[in-house]
Amino acid sequence: MLEPRRNQYLKAMGLTLWQRRVSVEVGQVDDIPNAGNEAQLAEPATDMLKTDHIEETEHVREVTANEQPDWQALQQSVKGCKACGLRAGCRQTVFGVGDPQADLLVIGEAPGADEDRQGEPFVGRAGQLLNGMLLAMGYKREAVFIANIVKCRPPDNRDPKPEEALHCEPHLLRQIELIKPKVILAVGRIAAQNLLKSDIAVGKLRGRIHSFGQAAIPLVVTYHPAYLLRSPEQKGKAWQDLQLALSVLREDSV
Ligand code: URA
Repeated sequence: MLEPRRNQYLKAMGLTLWQRRVSVEVGQVDDIPNAGNEAQLAEPATDMLKTDHIEETEHVREVTANEQPDWQALQQSVKGCKACGLRAGCRQTVFGVGDPQADLLVIGEAPGADEDRQGEPFVGRAGQLLNGMLLAMGYKREAVFIANIVKCRPPDNRDPKPEEALHCEPHLLRQIELIKPKVILAVGRIAAQNLLKSDIAVGKLRGRIHSFGQAAIPLVVTYHPAYLLRSPEQKGKAWQDLQLALSVLREDSV
């Protein structure tokens, strides 16, 4: 990305002069990949449309009947889910948005009022800042996938309860399995603590690379954009975290 453009995005995040020093601190991230990740948009898997080898196809169907849901079935399953009490108090489920084959998966906490209305995560003020953070990394919103720990809005914007997060966990785990991201970015305490099964504060979990699940997906924790709106002085640390995530994404692409 061109330097002036990146600076513009960093400025939108409230960051200007000291980015270079920060990048040295997190390990010489000397370039930021292009926003060219729109190219990741899923192409239809044309070989799945072939109709030869009917016997084989039927066999595959039998086997897959017992398997985990594919993307479409998962969307339906989330839509119809009433596993916890949250669904009764919200307008709609919020599955997530973006590229289902994204390298970067952003996981937040839960839909808020705006997200509940629009059926899409991070569409309010925090979402605007998240978009700016992603752009500063070189990613358009559409090029990543954005999901939440729980898919239904908790009443009065309270935190999701541990049991609600647990009920919703299979949905998120299957999303992760299907997306196969190269990096997970957990934004905020609820996302970080639920994903890492930890009760350590975000300030202590951020700044390093964790490993998620059996697939050992690199996971980076950072502050929630809503918190950054209230505490803009922490944006520098968030930028360090984003660069850390970028360093993993770049490593993986060479
Ligand atoms: N905060 C979140 O954690 N998720 C959203 O979708 C919106 C705000």
